Amino acid sequence: MAVIMKALLSLRRHAFHYKPVLRRHSSLITDLIENMDKKETWDRFYQENNSTKDGSQNLRNFEWFFSFDAVQSFILPLLQPQSSHEAPKNALDVGCGTSAVGPGIYRHSPWPVRVTCADISAVAIRLMQEQQQSRPVQPGNTSSSLLFLELDCSQLLQQFGCCSLDLIVDKGTTDALLRSKEGPAKAGQVLQQCLRVLRPSGALLQFSDEDPDARLLWLEKESGALGGGTTGVKVQEVGTLRGISYYCYTISPTSSP
Ligand SMILES: C[S@@+](CC[C@H](N)C(=O)[O-])C[C@H]1O[C@@H](n2cnc3c(N)ncnc32)[C@H](O)[C@@H]1O
Repeated sequence: MAVIMKALLSLRRHAFHYKPVLRRHSSLITDLIENMDKKETWDRFYQENNSTKDGSQNLRNFEWFFSFDAVQSFILPLLQPQSSHEAPKNALDVGCGTSAVGPGIYRHSPWPVRVTCADISAVAIRLMQEQQQSRPVQPGNTSSSLLFLELDCSQLLQQFGCCSLDLIVDKGTTDALLRSKEGPAKAGQVLQQCLRVLRPSGALLQFSDEDPDARLLWLEKESGALGGGTTGVKVQEVGTLRGISYYCYTISPTSSP
């Protein structure tokens, strides 16, 4: 499986040129490249990535791009309360997979935060719940909470309601949808739902390897489809890994005038 993952990660950017080579290696890789918008693809991925030889399951947190350490400086400052009477902030990791970002926020935020990790894959969510039961992560603040939820994130409004979240983290989920054959429309829906469930003061962080020229245009087009308030977007470089630049796009439901 490690070989498959290495191949997938290194060829991910050039997937469409390398498809014939990848097909020889594994149908799972092809499935991932074409169908990253499908629940079945991800259930299979997390199942196969965490199965041991004796057939039991053993979770190894899989991180798209990079781990919590690389992104915590973008995330944690946004959880700081503005006053001592403020209720805990609500944070959501959309398409959390088996990433340790959600548990990392729970563990490292010194301020109270309600963290929800949501994913369309029932397998990923079950693995994360089991890990938290067997090896519980301790909170950085005793008023914090951590929840794992099986959810199609193009339906966020039904789960959370309008203007209820302070922070949404998306590490690789929009990228995965945009790169799937039938995923781009879903990526637009996820963005629009994120902007609806965020408070006006909230922020959506998209961690991505997509070039700002392309992503900023897409964000402008898709958030414009919402109508009403203005959306503000800021881009910062997270770092470079094996020659690929990674970015943090901060999207605010209302931009400052
Ligand atoms: C590229 S992986 C990123 C996983 C994780 N964020 C990380 O950093 O490792 C994309 C994730 O999005 C999830 N996903 C795809 N479509 C989704 C949807 N409509 N709603 C929720 N999760 C979705 C997949 O199951 C997968 O776990």
